[in-house]
Amino acid sequence: MKISIIGAGGRVGSNTAFALQCLGLGRELVLIDANRAAAEGEALDLMHGSAFTSSQIIRAGEESDLDGSDIIVVTAGLRRQPDEPRLALINRNVSLFDQIMTSVKKAALPARAVLIVVTNPVDILTQVAVERSGFAADKVLGLGTVLDTLRFRSLLAAEFGADPRQVSALILGEHGDSMVPVWSTATVNGVPLTSLPGYDQQKVWQIFVRAQNSGAEVLKTKGGAGYAVGVAIAEVVKAIISDSGAILPVSTMQKGLYGLRDVCLSVPTRVGAGGAIGTVEMELWAKERSALEDSARALKATWDQVTQKR
Ligand code: LAC
Repeated sequence: MKISIIGAGGRVGSNTAFALQCLGLGRELVLIDANRAAAEGEALDLMHGSAFTSSQIIRAGEESDLDGSDIIVVTAGLRRQPDEPRLALINRNVSLFDQIMTSVKKAALPARAVLIVVTNPVDILTQVAVERSGFAADKVLGLGTVLDTLRFRSLLAAEFGADPRQVSALILGEHGDSMVPVWSTATVNGVPLTSLPGYDQQKVWQIFVRAQNSGAEVLKTKGGAGYAVGVAIAEVVKAIISDSGAILPVSTMQKGLYGLRDVCLSVPTRVGAGGAIGTVEMELWAKERSALEDSARALKATWDQVTQKR
């Protein structure tokens, strides 16, 4: 398995490579960055740790090294300011992303190759990738709300003193201001959140708000997310490599689930060797469903702006 990371000289890309190394995912990791020296440095530092981690070939490369990749992860792009919504990045990242898609399209890739989009605004750029990468739509996965879901579960676990790996709670919709927490199915290993000692509706809402603002919180404190986003990407990579069919809220082009179409956003999606191998229309409360529709509307309005500018 060859996994190429575009933007690997930055924090998100390098932390992704580290997560893949620690979990032993992939046989060859190729680190690509506009700053070649940064990619070389990250590859070297990771390679130094391989004797205690995994048997992998870890090296820096150029976009011409994409050939033969089974998975391409795109993290390259500019970050927002802490007080900006992710959607404000469209002016800065869409043209850069278009250029990256041109290189991706030129690469000689196996038919099974899957593209994972991480750059923000991730839902919009996933849609750009569906249009421009040459990949079939079901082989283009945006990280979407996988990261928000991870943060939400971890924060809930910390609040309730639960094992974070047993918390099951989902965030759907946009990876951004209109993301939708799904309370109707939140449990700790099957025990409804509402049954936990100390449950308080206002308190859990505040935990969601903190999860929603976590990207901005880590931007302000340490200059941007790294470890958790790396772990979130590794979870998607693991589902692809092991063909597990794991249900993850990745962002994909919608084809009618919940009546949504022609927009990329996160819904419960089965991820396997073929990329997105199915979606699941779980029952939602009416207010969750209408929030999901609002999220789709917000993304469509942004998409219209993107297409007008091109
Ligand atoms: C965040 C970025 C990756 O949420 O969007 O931290």
